[in-house]
Amino acid sequence: MKTKNVIDLTDLSHQELTDIIKLANEIRERPKEFGDVCKGKILATLFYEPSTRTQMSFQTAMLRLGGSIIGFDNPQNSSVSKGESLKDTITVVGGYADIIAIRHPSEGTAAAASMYSAAPVINAGDGGHLHPTQTLTDVVTLYNEMGRLDHLTIGLCGDLKNGRTVHSLIKTMSTFKGNKFILISTPELSVPQYIKDIINASECDYEEIGSLTEAMPGLDVLYMTRIQRERFASEEEYKKQNGVFVLDKEKLKAARKSMKILHPLPRVDEIDVEVDYDERAKYFEQTVYGMYGRMALIMTMLKNTDRTPDPRVYPTHPFRCSNPNCISRTEKYLPGIFREAGGDMLLCRYCEGRTLI
Ligand code: CP
Repeated sequence: MKTKNVIDLTDLSHQELTDIIKLANEIRERPKEFGDVCKGKILATLFYEPSTRTQMSFQTAMLRLGGSIIGFDNPQNSSVSKGESLKDTITVVGGYADIIAIRHPSEGTAAAASMYSAAPVINAGDGGHLHPTQTLTDVVTLYNEMGRLDHLTIGLCGDLKNGRTVHSLIKTMSTFKGNKFILISTPELSVPQYIKDIINASECDYEEIGSLTEAMPGLDVLYMTRIQRERFASEEEYKKQNGVFVLDKEKLKAARKSMKILHPLPRVDEIDVEVDYDERAKYFEQTVYGMYGRMALIMTMLKNTDRTPDPRVYPTHPFRCSNPNCISRTEKYLPGIFREAGGDMLLCRYCEGRTLI
């Protein structure tokens, strides 16, 4: 694999991604053959935000490959609670571990961490930005359940504004020809403009719609998501959005027999439990595909022996990113690095937020 770090799944070429999916399937079919391939290697899981699946599936993946694990699942139990910076934590852990998976509530954290880590860094979720290994989970599931990653009509429903799994999935699936995204949300929780720009620049298409019932008959895949309560400014605003889209048996009557239902989980109440028994529901199988995907990713990344932090040397700007949730707003030593986005617009290289100059 050419890239040392996985900040965004589109860091990987199609060939690299396909190789990882195939390796995940080989491990699933013959797990014993892979039981000690990471013997002597250490994975650090640094979770500044709660997690069940991502953290445990990374840990299970490394243990099933014969490796060991270190880390924290609550930064208050680490020296972060004493005010240690991201830079210092990562510099130290990068010297202990062979590979790091990091989750953080601020957008752009994994990219920032890669600047100081000798060990390769995997983005395990950065605020509302991206979640590439959930997307790996999703593409392993789609490859096995649909038989292809192109020419699919994919409905994405729920919190498309704050749902990092949605952003990552669209970014990756829009690199495959002929996919169509049906974006099902309220106007307040619609997908960010930068994601629409990515679809517009691809060989894919999208449509925005406010009704799950109307969208249902045309879908190959329905990707449900929860409303991300923790990303709302107030409980009142969250309550206005929660419960607008609920998938139940009645709504499923209009869906194709072949449609697959995915969800990154955790579920709150956007899928009725009775749907769990419908053969189209694949969200629990999806979690298992994800573990094999992460095993394959760890194996592949550990082949790269480069221990040099990624300097991310770009022309710096005197501006700060205007996204209040960008990591560069709290870790003040980070240089302001941007990409020109046309006109007076800059795109932050940590969080992809737009800044008007
Ligand atoms: N899908 C996902 O990221 O779940 P967790 O938050 O439990 O890791």
